[in-house]
Amino acid sequence: MENQTIVGQQTKVNTQIFDAPEEGARYVAAKIAAFINKRNSEGLPTVLGLATGNTPIPLYMELVRLHKEEGLSFKKVISFNLDEYYPISPDDVNSYHYFMFKHLFSHIDIDRANVHIPVGTLAEHMINEYCEGYERMIREAGGIDIQILGIGRAGHIGFNEPGSQLNDITRLVTLNPLTISDAAGDFGGAEFVPRKALTMGVRTIMEARKVFLLGWGEKKAEILAKAIEGQVGIEVPASFLQKHKDTEFILDKGAASKLACCKY
Ligand code: PGA
Repeated sequence: MENQTIVGQQTKVNTQIFDAPEEGARYVAAKIAAFINKRNSEGLPTVLGLATGNTPIPLYMELVRLHKEEGLSFKKVISFNLDEYYPISPDDVNSYHYFMFKHLFSHIDIDRANVHIPVGTLAEHMINEYCEGYERMIREAGGIDIQILGIGRAGHIGFNEPGSQLNDITRLVTLNPLTISDAAGDFGGAEFVPRKALTMGVRTIMEARKVFLLGWGEKKAEILAKAIEGQVGIEVPASFLQKHKDTEFILDKGAASKLACCKY
């Protein structure tokens, strides 16, 4: 991995910088594949926490390649997605259901019964119970082995926007205006972006045994510098990961360009 720079000694969290997103994605995919292969050989399931957005697309492309060309089997994988817009139909092209099948699930051998994505069509009065059930399903699956995250420009992980607390669990949240404006292009205008979402909480994420947060490009550089080098707190929910025992931030050079510790 010649183009990889490890700056874990200088930052508060283990941060790895690659020349290009594809290289970072290959690094993470190889780690996931090794974990799944080991578990498969022991006859044990692997529990993955999965993210959506542009960021994980190169990772999913590489996982699909590993499945098709190198025999990586997802038959024993159980997945839990971080979040879903609310309200939204699973057939909507902007839903995270649609995204996950388009980019990953339709191309691998995962058992559909093992796929969990928060449902965006629930009646409001059912949401609390549904969210408690989502947490329970994660626990009953044995907890998340590997959690994949992106980061929003307001500092969210999942849809835990600024103001989210360390002990928040899966729940209905209101989206941050910056998140809505960043999603406006996909929806054909900010007025069409759902105002709410269901999301795993910061606590749900912090309970994952291993976390990879991926970030590409200069537009994420400022928030990543805050998350990695700034104060831990509710203003930048991704900063809570500084307190996680096994998190790696996987960046390209653009995304790392505002880190004080290293100049590119
Ligand atoms: P993006 O979104 O990957 O589309 O930039 C990341 C996020 O909001 O977590």
